[in-house]
Amino acid sequence: MTGLFIAFEGGEGAGKSTQARLLAEALRAQGRDVVLTREPGGTAGAEAIRALLLSTEGEGWGPRAEALLFAAARADHVERLIRPTLARGAIVICDRFLDSSRAYQGGGGGVSDEDVLALHAIGSEGLLPDLTVLLTLAPDEAAHRLALRDQGQSDRIGGRDAAYHARVAKAFERFAAAEPQRFARIDAAGDPAQVHARVLAAVERVA
Ligand code: TMP
Repeated sequence: MTGLFIAFEGGEGAGKSTQARLLAEALRAQGRDVVLTREPGGTAGAEAIRALLLSTEGEGWGPRAEALLFAAARADHVERLIRPTLARGAIVICDRFLDSSRAYQGGGGGVSDEDVLALHAIGSEGLLPDLTVLLTLAPDEAAHRLALRDQGQSDRIGGRDAAYHARVAKAFERFAAAEPQRFARIDAAGDPAQVHARVLAAVERVA
């Protein structure tokens, strides 16, 4: 039996974590076995790599070292948590996955898409979500939500300039346009319950 793998993607402040949690709660209420997890992280090893990647101490990482570290964190997460969960027939809901590396280290940082995908092939044998929910939000609305959430304390990557985040957003749009069957592009404007209803409608396609 194989389960179902759903990833949430999008820029900072789009509401991915809230929507991932609301979806997990809704599917559990239907009696489904759901594991809610996140990237970078989700296992002890991957959470340790997360701390290395997002700490604002020290000089940080170049885009290539960053891409390798994200791929290593993902490899551990896929091997130890995601694949075993899918193998027992359960649903995995993941707050960010491969497309974040393609958008941030690729679109934002300049690593080629081929290279990011090659790292994913090595690290995680190319595992892809069955459905990737892309939450889209106007940059000024996202900045407003982030200011409320982070109170000026953004992490190493979230704190990069607006031009970087604009390249990230464009890259996500390109990926969604190129793979319309894998992606559901969802407007993240409005209150969480409204967005959740849109997400549920998209998930009904696969769940
Ligand atoms: P979070 O804010 O969603 O927890 O994600 C942490 C940061 O890591 C966020 O700025 C996006 C970034 N990120 C990448 O740059 N590449 C990746 O592959 C992933 C999973 C996250």
